[in-house]
This record gives sequence, structure tokens and C-alpha cells, in this order.
Amino acid sequence: MQVQSSRQQNFSMADDATTSGQSTASGASQGFSFKERLIAENALVSPYGEPTYWDERYENNRREFGQNYSFDWYCGTEKIIDLVELHVGKERGAKILVLGCGNSNLSKAIFDKGYRSITSLDISPIVVSQMIYRFRECEGMEYVVGDAMNLSM
Ligand SMILES: C[S@@+](CC[C@H](N)C(=O)[O-])C[C@H]1O[C@@H](n2cnc3c(N)ncnc32)[C@H](O)[C@@H]1O
Repeated sequence: MQVQSSRQQNFSMADDATTSGQSTASGASQGFSFKERLIAENALVSPYGEPTYWDERYENNRREFGQNYSFDWYCGTEKIIDLVELHVGKERGAKILVLGCGNSNLSKAIFDKGYRSITSLDISPIVVSQMIYRFRECEGMEYVVGDAMNLSM
């Protein structure tokens, strides 16, 4: 089976599990690491690692619901905001990194708690530009495009 991963590499998937009865990392012998194989296999079932998927989704959201639309996937911000102080502490200058921020309200809720060194990172340039514009007046909130799986910060 041929699979194209998000990194545009072609993986020849001999499907070890069905041919030998166990899962092996035979990709390594073809020059692919186990992690690269996992990414490729995941790409078969989910587009969630693809920046283009998220760009399209966030652009559609903006068209349909407007520039200030936000969506919290897992739970409302109010349910987790107190955990931030619990784990980060009371120091309002503490550096906070929000990974895969999307258009969630979490970063703004952290800002509203008084924290002033918040970096929010997402792989979608579209949502990052939307959020930069939305919170352009919030000094201490920074939005950057980046891959959480390949951080250089
Ligand atoms: C399910 S949404 C969650 C958004 C937000 N954290 C929330 O809870 O509502 C996943 C977000 O992660 C981003 N994402 C996916 N893969 C990523 C990666 N490798 N690095 C950074 N962001 C990523 C997507 O663009 C998307 O905005």
C-alpha cells in the first residue's frame, strides 16, 4: 500500500501485521523511522495533522461565523482556567506556551487572569493570523505559526 504522509514522503507499507503476524518497524530498513511510519499511518485515518485541513476549516468558520468565532474542543475555558494558576503559579510574568491553540479562548482567559507572557502556537497560518488580528491590542499575547512536533524555540 502506498501512503503519502504530511511530509510528502511516499511510504511503501508492506503491512507487516498482516504478512508476518506482528508489527515491525520495517520502514526503518527503507530509511524511514518508526515515528515517520506512525505519522504516515495516522495520515490514513485522520487529516488532523495537516495544516491545509485546519486552514480550510478556520477560513470556512470565519466566513460562516465571523472574525471573532471561537471554539473550544474539549471543554469550556472556565473549567480549566484555575488549573493554570495551580500549575504555573502566581508569577504573572511566567512564560506560558499554548500548543495547538486554534481559535480557542484559552489564551485570552489566561491573559485575563493577568499573565503577560503567553505564546500561542498553531500549525495553521490562517488561524494564527485571525488570532493576531483579534487580540492585536493585548500586549503580552503572542501568536506564532509552528509545528509542536518540531519546536526550535
Ligand atoms: C482539535 S483543535 C484544538 C484547538 C484548541 N486547543 C482547543 O482545545 O479548542 C487542534 C489544533 O491543533 C493544531 N495542530 C495540529 N497539529 C499541530 C502541530 N503539529 N503543531 C501545532 N499545532 C497543531 C490545529 O491547527 C488545530 O488548531
